[in-house]
Amino acid sequence: MRKVGIIGAGQMGSGIAQTVAQHGIEVVLADVELSVAEKARAGIDRTLRKLVDKGKIEGAEADAALGRITPVADYQPMADAELIIEAATEREEIKRAIFEAAGEILGQDAILASNTSSIPITRMANWSPDPARFIGLHFFNPVPVMGLIEVIPGLATSDETTARTRAFAERLGKEVVLSQDEPGFVVNRILLPMLNEAVFVLGQGTASIEDIDKGCRLGLNHPMGPLQLADFVGLDTCFEIIQVLHKTTGDPKYRPAPLLVKYVEAGWLGRKTGRGFYDYSGEEPAPTR
Ligand code: 3HC
Repeated sequence: MRKVGIIGAGQMGSGIAQTVAQHGIEVVLADVELSVAEKARAGIDRTLRKLVDKGKIEGAEADAALGRITPVADYQPMADAELIIEAATEREEIKRAIFEAAGEILGQDAILASNTSSIPITRMANWSPDPARFIGLHFFNPVPVMGLIEVIPGLATSDETTARTRAFAERLGKEVVLSQDEPGFVVNRILLPMLNEAVFVLGQGTASIEDIDKGCRLGLNHPMGPLQLADFVGLDTCFEIIQVLHKTTGDPKYRPAPLLVKYVEAGWLGRKTGRGFYDYSGEEPAPTR
């Protein structure tokens, strides 16, 4: 693989861009405004510099990786990419518009992939020019650090598309889990009920934010407690995913915790807004309740 297009320059799109570029592949990184894509590239530059300062990579390697990333505001420069990865907001109408526009320029043999965390691949494939070349490619945050990628073929995805996508994921040094196109795939299907349950536990006053997180960090050896992780993922994203699980299965075990809904309505979305279950304005995150 020589060139990859990435649509959406948020937390996930930036992480994917950094990882792909560090593995010697050209990246065209698109967002609605050029300034957003440029800001993402500047953020990747800062992350790469930190890795240089820590002695993890050479300065020349950081320069080369950054040099492979071209920020853009339109999809034309991706016309010769072998793979286009959508990493936009988890809303169907936004993704549909992206697939229809990217479909106009998608190369004859190129694959269109979505980094969706919960929307059915088979449904989205129908919005692309060739469902046989459409697939789910689910990364985990922070992308450069996490060792897993889920590969999710839809009903119409060809075996060749699945094999090529899997080879791409492995080229990035990641392990692959193959999942059927079922709500939440494998990992989020298990993770989101846990995060949601932690919010129920908090809402019912069973324990404090600190103790819920400490309990899971020390009692389960998780690197982050569930409330800290929910803030890290984004409370809006958690809410979207748990809602998809709830709506698509009709199973009440997936109903969103009322306190999660409140936090989203308050615009307290976690790290990205500076406040979620923790307040991120100081040196160290501080519990808010
Ligand atoms: N690029 C390269 N390396 C990076 C990096 C980046 N962007 N960000 C962090 N790192 C490296 C650091 O250099 C550091 O390396 P070192 O230990 O060798 O020095 C290492 O990652 C750890 O970073 P920090 O020391 O800054 O922080 P922590 O030790 O606290 O670890 C963490 C941070 C890796 C985020 C860890 O807390 C963790 O694994 N948390 C759980 C993350 C998780 O569960 N992610 C999945 C979320 S679910 C998801 O994404 C799916 C979606 O659909 C919802």
